[in-house]
Amino acid sequence: DASDIEKGTYPHYMLKEIDEQPAVMRKIIMEYQDANDNIKLDEDVRSAVQNSDRIYIIACGTSYHAGLVGKQMIEKMAKIPTEVHIASEFSYNMPLLSEKPLFIFISQSGETADSRAVLVHIKKLGHRSLTITNVAGSTLSREADHTLLLHAGPEIAVASTKAYTAQIAVLALLAVDTAKVKGIKLDFNPIQELGIVANAMEALVDQKDIIEKIARDYLSVTRSCFFIGRGIDYYVCQEAALKLKEISYIQAEGFAGGELKHGTIALIEEGTPVIAIATQAHVNGSIRSNVKETVARGAHACIVSMESTSETGDQIVLPEVHEYLTPLVSVVPMQLLAYYAALHRDCDVDKPRNLAKSVTVE
Ligand code: G6P
Repeated sequence: DASDIEKGTYPHYMLKEIDEQPAVMRKIIMEYQDANDNIKLDEDVRSAVQNSDRIYIIACGTSYHAGLVGKQMIEKMAKIPTEVHIASEFSYNMPLLSEKPLFIFISQSGETADSRAVLVHIKKLGHRSLTITNVAGSTLSREADHTLLLHAGPEIAVASTKAYTAQIAVLALLAVDTAKVKGIKLDFNPIQELGIVANAMEALVDQKDIIEKIARDYLSVTRSCFFIGRGIDYYVCQEAALKLKEISYIQAEGFAGGELKHGTIALIEEGTPVIAIATQAHVNGSIRSNVKETVARGAHACIVSMESTSETGDQIVLPEVHEYLTPLVSVVPMQLLAYYAALHRDCDVDKPRNLAKSVTVE
């Protein structure tokens, strides 16, 4: 049938979509670059962001995790305070809004009912909105004031991969553009840096055998798996855990390295898989000592980092990219780990039980 043709030689959409990520990065560069190598954005979008004193990002699932990374970039580069909220929780925990809020809805499908409920609500309050979505003409795109498209191409696998990296890339462009318009000097050329990311992603998807081996060793029989990281790596840990839960049904959690000692370390026993992400120079040392603490209690640990060391234990070495953009590369082996774990456990990779690609009920 038609879907078999679209999948080409790939056994699953998920693997195809993971492999497409370098191309998606290049497509985003093309779509958002003008003839003078500047970022191309609608003036309306620009002024909506410029005129806001605080940004509220609203999303669910993987898109929420992209929002967490986006918040960091917007605050660090564009200097606009930014909050990230799970859509379904927003109405119960409605924050005190600033004077000129801008709501950014992040949604691959643009159809998620939980996010739409927030959009309907904030529109009634008279607030401005921007949707970042993969689907032009989707509900969230039509109903918001502005839209930025992801240009990731159709994502079919229920577990989101290329939409996550596309969301982060578009948020990076938005953050840089906002900084530029505000006259903030940045030592960061996003077009160039995203090009470096595309090459790094390519190098990683070419190392499938290494990652498949780690998936087999760590995840074929385990009941649980922990991902630990600090700062921006912690956000990627949450996404890594979600990927693994969704398609392999392994009980997985992403933890902040510093919180281990406040509870989680009690769960570590002989053979518990611990995957640590350590891409940021300033937390590298403390994450590596967290890993040692878990190994001393029997954990089976693997470190994902730009630095190759001769320390004992497994490692996945990532190519160097700008420190703001490390989630775009550290997530790739995490996606592949989840994919191979699901394969080794005979799970239905593209259509996991109990889940839908887009959830149109609250
Ligand atoms: C569903 C999907 C997830 C996705 C979430 C948000 O739960 O299974 O993969 O992250 O919805 O979807 P959206 O289309 O709004 O990004």
